[in-house]
Amino acid sequence: MTTPAPAVRLTGVAKSFGRQYAVKDVTLDIAQNEFFSILGPSGCGKTTLMRMITGFETPTTGVVELGGVAANRLPPHKRDLNMLFQSYALFPHLHVGANVAFELRVRRRPRAAIDEAVRGALALVRLDGYGHRRVSELSGGQQQRVAIARALVSRPALLLLDEPLGALDQKLRAEMQLELKKLQREVGVTFVSVTHDQEEALTMSDRIAVMNEGRVLQVGSAQEIYERPANRFVADFIGTSNFLTGRLGPGRTLVVDGLGAIRIPGTDLPDGTEVHLAVRPENVRIARAENELPTGGVALAATLQQAVYLGHGVRYHLGLANGATAVAEQRGPADQAPRVGERVWIGWSPDLSRILSE
Ligand SMILES: Nc1ncnc2c1ncn2[C@@H]1O[C@H](COP(=O)(O)OP(=O)(O)OP(=O)(O)O)[C@@H](O)[C@H]1O
Ligand SMILES: [Mg+2]
Repeated sequence: MTTPAPAVRLTGVAKSFGRQYAVKDVTLDIAQNEFFSILGPSGCGKTTLMRMITGFETPTTGVVELGGVAANRLPPHKRDLNMLFQSYALFPHLHVGANVAFELRVRRRPRAAIDEAVRGALALVRLDGYGHRRVSELSGGQQQRVAIARALVSRPALLLLDEPLGALDQKLRAEMQLELKKLQREVGVTFVSVTHDQEEALTMSDRIAVMNEGRVLQVGSAQEIYERPANRFVADFIGTSNFLTGRLGPGRTLVVDGLGAIRIPGTDLPDGTEVHLAVRPENVRIARAENELPTGGVALAATLQQAVYLGHGVRYHLGLANGATAVAEQRGPADQAPRVGERVWIGWSPDLSRILSE
């Protein structure tokens, strides 16, 4: 059996506007039926990358393939895809059904086929029987679903979503994230979603590409990217990390100015290399005495600067001997919590930290 061609293949794709490169040398595959997210800060090139997939932008260099076919010269309307934007731009004067049917009517499909497709698309987004409602009578979440039904009614091979839930409030957004993911599994359409919201990407995606300054820094599942970030930017952008910078020393240590030798996991990099150690706040323990920390781990003296009650736990901001700060998060009740100004110890298991060379 041959493996199917990827839904999208980008090879060395770059885009410049004048002298500025918005996207630099991106190479990646998006598999059929995958929910793929492109995540990165504002201005990093997400929309530009997306527009090269849709055909509204032509790459300066590189090749875009869709379903195994070179697509660089294919105009947007000849590509088997559809788009969903933040401003979902429904026609307010048309009924729900007419909004969903719009594209099929433009394409002059037979009436019966259109009715059937519209019914199917509305059922998909759980708006059965809403065909004759006015768009203006619907809630924000319902309007969003109409927009999704409209994008899926022609059953494109690929659906591109640019900040699709950006217009919704936080709670509705969280609901729609789960719903979109479920819907994507049901319809078996490849979704490519662009967002700067890391939680949204982590919730919905099979895989995520993290971008910064026009480059894709890492592609992987939510778990891979969170637990094994490729570099400091990813470790910082996805969740929070503490960083200590120093040089690799003998016997699995990192030598940090003002802190001494810190135990680290194994690394292939040679002694003397300057690296960052990254450790997540939830992996940092806090104790009143050094011997209350698990043995064999890292132990550093610290001063508690601030404690923030989170509801499900407490976040501690700590000052270290070298003047750096660290963050520790602990779950559970905070009855025995140390006080601000108190001298404490923090530590972690070396296995739960990571060595990053850039
Ligand atoms: N048509 C254009 N002409 C000139 N520069 C552009 C054009 N489109 C985008 N850019 C620039 O390219 C860079 C990337 O823009 P892009 O819209 O792809 O970012 P983004 O990641 O989608 O950001 P946001 O999260 O804010 O939507 C920006 O510096 C932007 O100013
Ligand atoms: Mg954008």
